[in-house]
Amino acid sequence: MTNLRKVAHGPFAASLSIDQANDFLVWSLAVKCTAQREQLRLRCLHDAGFTRPIEQLKSEEIVLWLAKVTPPGDVAIGEPDTFGIEHATQVLAAEETERLVRFLHIEDRMSYLAAHAGARLLLGNLVDQPASALRFKSSAHGKPILVAGPGDLDFSLSHARGAVAVAAARMPVGVDIEPLREIADMDSISEIALAAEERKVLRSAPAALRSRLFLRYWTLKEAVLKAAGLGFTIPPTTVIIDPGPSPAVLSVPDALGPAEEWRLIAPAV
Ligand SMILES: CC(C)(COP(=O)(O)OP(=O)(O)OC[C@H]1O[C@@H](n2cnc3c(N)ncnc32)[C@H](O)[C@@H]1OP(=O)(O)O)[C@@H](O)C(=O)NCCC(=O)NCCS
Repeated sequence: MTNLRKVAHGPFAASLSIDQANDFLVWSLAVKCTAQREQLRLRCLHDAGFTRPIEQLKSEEIVLWLAKVTPPGDVAIGEPDTFGIEHATQVLAAEETERLVRFLHIEDRMSYLAAHAGARLLLGNLVDQPASALRFKSSAHGKPILVAGPGDLDFSLSHARGAVAVAAARMPVGVDIEPLREIADMDSISEIALAAEERKVLRSAPAALRSRLFLRYWTLKEAVLKAAGLGFTIPPTTVIIDPGPSPAVLSVPDALGPAEEWRLIAPAV
């Protein structure tokens, strides 16, 4: 922490509304439940320091925090809904601080810090415990799990250069973000990530929308694999998605349970 404080202080992360996020991010959420998609409610959080109490989660509710992360000094002091490095570093556990300072690039460091401190503050607020006192363990394939939280509370985080997302729900939840960008090697990356029918949909999309559509497929698949806790132990080509407008899971390997129990949330393209 001392090292970090020498290089950085001040606000570094600002909450994003869904509209603001859509300008430069592709984000997706997946939950596994028996409720229908229309019954689910998404609550987007705008208090970057999680200073106000978060209303308790209802069983069919998902909370989502999206934030823009900037190199320290780029966020004006006093800007609403910003998150300060001093506040964030205080809540990390020693092993998180050790991982944090191992990132060579300051932007990766800031995103890791925002995601992990954000997850701690959000969960601490939900379970009414100090963020710094929370303990986590890992599932067999690396999914972080809150120790001693309510049994049905799940969370997921995603960090990319420039942005982070944290989601929590009382059901298995996965969130994934990707910076919106042009995908140069679309054909080769699609072979690795997409099923044949998904590649067909991608090829028939207008050229100007293809990169966004690819990233939508990608984040939807990752969100499912993160909710299941299996990550890339499952080939992404085997999680088959209808990208929407209202996205849905068409088929998944047996390890992920029935396809009918997966619900997807992503902004309209
Ligand atoms: C999880 C995974 C899909 C995310 O990759 P990504 O897009 O590069 O990164 P994101 O920022 O979106 O997500 C990373 C976060 O997902 C979480 N995560 C890691 N493994 C996870 C898993 N199996 N399930 C759900 N979430 C996981 C962690 O919080 C991680 O952040 P952290 O490393 O800072 O704690 C990918 O890293 C993966 O498949 N990991 C598992 C690898 C694996 O199974 N190895 C074999 C071990 S036996």
